Amino acid sequence: MIKLDNFSSFFVANWKLNGNFKFIDQFITEISLPQDTTKCVVICPTTIHLDYMSKNKTKFYVGAQNVSQHKDGAFTGEISADSLSDLNVNFCIVGHSERRQFFFEKNEDINHKSENLIKKNIIPIVCVGETLEDKEKGITNGILEEQLKKSIPISSNFQNTIIAYEPVWAIGTGLTPTNKEINDTHSFIREHNSKFNKFKIIYGGSVKANNVNEITSLLNVDGALIGGASLKSDEFTKIIQD
Ligand code: 13P
Repeated sequence: MIKLDNFSSFFVANWKLNGNFKFIDQFITEISLPQDTTKCVVICPTTIHLDYMSKNKTKFYVGAQNVSQHKDGAFTGEISADSLSDLNVNFCIVGHSERRQFFFEKNEDINHKSENLIKKNIIPIVCVGETLEDKEKGITNGILEEQLKKSIPISSNFQNTIIAYEPVWAIGTGLTPTNKEINDTHSFIREHNSKFNKFKIIYGGSVKANNVNEITSLLNVDGALIGGASLKSDEFTKIIQD
């Protein structure tokens, strides 16, 4: 398993349902990785492209976007943690709000997924976040507490799991919480349960080249999870170089 302690910050590109071989070839030629090797850069292409990405990668790591909650068996179309490990995948996003919303993933599924990944030495990046409705009702912390309690398995610790805070309303909208709100929420995640004190916590939701620096330099923020802006090689280079 990758040693998370070796890194000062994490920049995770979530390509979602985008990219193909040609795109990957071009992207890899165009990006420039940071000199600072304590910055951990992870690119998560579609599952189909994981192997190609792993074989052609330079100084970044490869991550998956999802994994089955089942270890093996009669689950047609699913991808197991074991299969990801065969492809030398080091990270896997789990519980992204798009999976919770469109594929009806529950905290309990996310818990099983994370547990299976840890057993295969793959680091789960567990996503949590409130909807706009939750935020307006003032129940963000309660929502996060419940998601964390149920979706982080007992076997998780600061050396084998990363938490990603992604407010659902900030994803793909160009909206972000204020820097103070981000820092306070990360601080809440870290402090509300001593289990999470030393966890790496990254922020996602409309991170771009022009706001990444101010966000990732916040005291309680250990990096960023980037969607749209990670698909543009020049913008992603600026994000990881900042
Ligand atoms: P955007 O950066 O496009 O807002 O997406 C964030 C996200 O969902 C990353 O997982």
